[in-house]
Amino acid sequence: MENFWKHFSCPVFSLAPMEDVTDTVFREIVMGMAAPGKLLVVFTEFTSVEGMNHPVGRTRVSERLIVNESERDLLRKMNVKLVAQIWGRNPEIYHNVAKYITENYTFDGLDINMGCPVKKVVKQGSCSALIGEPLLAKEIIAATKEGTNLPVSVKTRTGIKKHQTEDWISHLLEAEPAAIILHGRTQRMQSEGNADWNEIKKAVQLKNQINPNIPLHGNGDVFSYTDGLNKIEETGVDGVMIGRGIFQNPWFFDPNKTEIAKEGRIEKLIQHTRLFEKTWAGKKNFNILKRFYKIYLNSFEGAAKMRADLMEARNYSEVYSYFEML
Ligand SMILES: Cc1cc2nc3c(=O)[nH]c(=O)nc-3n(C[C@H](O)[C@H](O)[C@H](O)COP(=O)(O)O)c2cc1C
Repeated sequence: MENFWKHFSCPVFSLAPMEDVTDTVFREIVMGMAAPGKLLVVFTEFTSVEGMNHPVGRTRVSERLIVNESERDLLRKMNVKLVAQIWGRNPEIYHNVAKYITENYTFDGLDINMGCPVKKVVKQGSCSALIGEPLLAKEIIAATKEGTNLPVSVKTRTGIKKHQTEDWISHLLEAEPAAIILHGRTQRMQSEGNADWNEIKKAVQLKNQINPNIPLHGNGDVFSYTDGLNKIEETGVDGVMIGRGIFQNPWFFDPNKTEIAKEGRIEKLIQHTRLFEKTWAGKKNFNILKRFYKIYLNSFEGAAKMRADLMEARNYSEVYSYFEML
C-alpha cells in the first residue's frame, strides 16, 4: 500500500493519539468541527500488542480500535487518514499483531509508540524506554513492517534523561519508518517544561541529510492553528500534531471559528454525549465524559456554574434533562 504520509501537498495537521480521549466518538466530533483540509490524520488511543495477541485479553483491548460507521463516513468525506497506534516490546508479537490488524480492520496506517513516558509502560521496557535500546527499536520496526502492507510510522521523543535527538533519530532513520512524529520533550520531562522545537528542527536537518524522503512531523505545545503554521515554517517539519490544544479549543481545526457562542457549545456537548452513550453505554464509565464537558463549557457567562452542575450528573438522562430545563 502506498505511504500516504508522503502524498500531502499542504501543511499537515494531525490529532494526537490520547488515551481515554481519542476514541471513535471524539475523533468523529473533532472531524465534524474541522474545516476541509485542515485536519488530515487522526490516531487511535495506544493499543497493547500483548493484549491484542491474547485471545481473551483482546476482547477488552480491541475496544480501542473500534471505528463507528458514522466516523468511517466522515473519514471518507473529509479525506482524513486513520492510524492505529500500537505499543509493546516483543518484535514477534508486533509482527503478529500488525498482521492481525491489517487482516481484520480497516486502517490507513500503523504507528509504533516509542514516546509514552508513563511508569507502568516504561518499567516493561516499552514506549519511550525503547529510545535506550535502538537495536531493539529497529527490530520492532522491521518486524511490524514485515507483518503489514500499511505504512508504519513511529511517534517518539527527543531522548530519555536529556535530548539525544541526533543519535536517536539517526537510528530511527536507518529503520526507514513511513514517517516520524517527534515530541520535543525527553522521557524525563513527561509533560513538564516546554517542548523544544530547536531539537525538532535539528531532527529535520538530520533527516534532510540522511533520508529526505521520510516525512518528519513535530509535536508539543501547539495551541493555535497559526502557531502550527509558524512552526512548520520555522523548522521545516512536514506537519504538526496537536494534543492538548484540542482541550483548549475543540474547534482547533477550523481556524476561522474564533468565537463559538454558548448555544453552539451546548449543542456539541449534547451531540458528544449522545454518540458516547450510543457507542459505549455498558462498556465505558459515564464519568469519562465529564472531562469533555470542561472543554465545551467555557468562554461564556455562567459556564463555570454549568460545569459544576454537570459534574454532579450521575447518568446520561440527567445531562439531557439538565439542558431541557434551561
Ligand atoms: C490525556 C493524554 C493521553 C495521551 N495518550 C497518548 C497515547 O495513547 N499515545 C501517544 O503516543 N501519546 C499520548 N499522549 C501524548 C500526546 O499524544 C502528545 O504527544 C503530547 O500531549 C504532547 O503534545 P501537546 O503538547 O500538543 O499536548 C497523551 C497525552 C495526553 C494529554
